[in-house]
Amino acid sequence: MGAQIGIDINKAAELLSGGKLVAIPTETVYGLAANGLDSTAVAGIFAAKNRPTFDPLILHVGSIEQAKTLCSQWPAAAERLANAFWPGPLTLVLPKAHHVPELVTADNPTVAIRMPNNPLSLSLIRSLPFPLAAPSANPFGYVSPTCAQHVADQLGDRIDYILDGGDCAIGIESTIVSVSNDNQVTILRLGGLDIESLSEVLGYPVSESLSMHSNPQAPGQLDQHYSPNSSMVHIADFSIDAILKDLHAHPQATRGFLWFSQQQAQGFIEQFDEKTQGLLTDSALKHYHLSINHNDREAAMNLFGTLRQFDKDGCKRIYFSWAPENGLGRAINDRLKRASSKVIH
Ligand code: TXA
Ligand code: MG
Repeated sequence: MGAQIGIDINKAAELLSGGKLVAIPTETVYGLAANGLDSTAVAGIFAAKNRPTFDPLILHVGSIEQAKTLCSQWPAAAERLANAFWPGPLTLVLPKAHHVPELVTADNPTVAIRMPNNPLSLSLIRSLPFPLAAPSANPFGYVSPTCAQHVADQLGDRIDYILDGGDCAIGIESTIVSVSNDNQVTILRLGGLDIESLSEVLGYPVSESLSMHSNPQAPGQLDQHYSPNSSMVHIADFSIDAILKDLHAHPQATRGFLWFSQQQAQGFIEQFDEKTQGLLTDSALKHYHLSINHNDREAAMNLFGTLRQFDKDGCKRIYFSWAPENGLGRAINDRLKRASSKVIH
């Protein structure tokens, strides 16, 4: 039997207080939540997701005051960023307070904290005497969920309740930054808050230390993550002739094309329509675009749902194109890069 889906905050609070798992909506992606100060409850998250314990979790809070109780330092830059962007898609990594369980931080001396911008989850967290540890509510390595049904499809029989907050407004995970005692801000993961906005609020540039691995102590390794079941192949690696050859070699296999914009898709289809003799509009070929208006926010919102759609369509191979490298386009490309990575750790 699958977990119940509903909007009962009291029920969610009761389950969480009893050490159970509840999926919660946020503006980025759905989280798989448990009492973040209870190691046994947190262990349940790792088990349900099949997540390695070297991958630390984010603690979700309802106020800046609560955030301050979870870290041992709160530099001025943290105060400024939290005031400007919370609740919102920004996670701050700070030295941890002693009582934060080591399982949450994967033995790191730091803890990741954010205040999500979703009315249901905020009311829930504010009604509880503890923060919620919550990774994205997907099996480890798969695409993150952006609606309640995505969670039910994959983790429904492993969790107790799914709080339904509708579709995620941002659709891509939070931007993670570390804040040093001397107010240096370093981006650790690209996400739903663009870097331009961060440095504008700070009044000075931020640096980047983007690890492609989910273990913060093993940087520089490419992690296959956010991946659909089909293999993802960047379109520039394939000339149209190579794509045709691939299609002819496996005529029955369902293939997908993931375009950033509708315009880009149309351009491609028109350009090669003659050459392919209508093959590209064949029913075994699925074309999806992330944005109608070439808009990075719209594209981010649609990214994970579209990757799931390819799996539902039974696509064996997805040819994709990059997003423009600005605004949320950088975070979209980061997810595409990981989804298409061949290396699995
Ligand atoms: O938008 C989000 O951030 C979503 C929603 C549910 O809040 N959560 C999310 O959690 O994406 P998750 O577990 O899928 O990714 C959290 C990542 C970890 O993989 C790790 O890379 C980083 O946060 N992280 C957590 N604690 C850290 C720490 N102390 N130092 C460095 N990185 C940390
Ligand atoms: Mg995740």
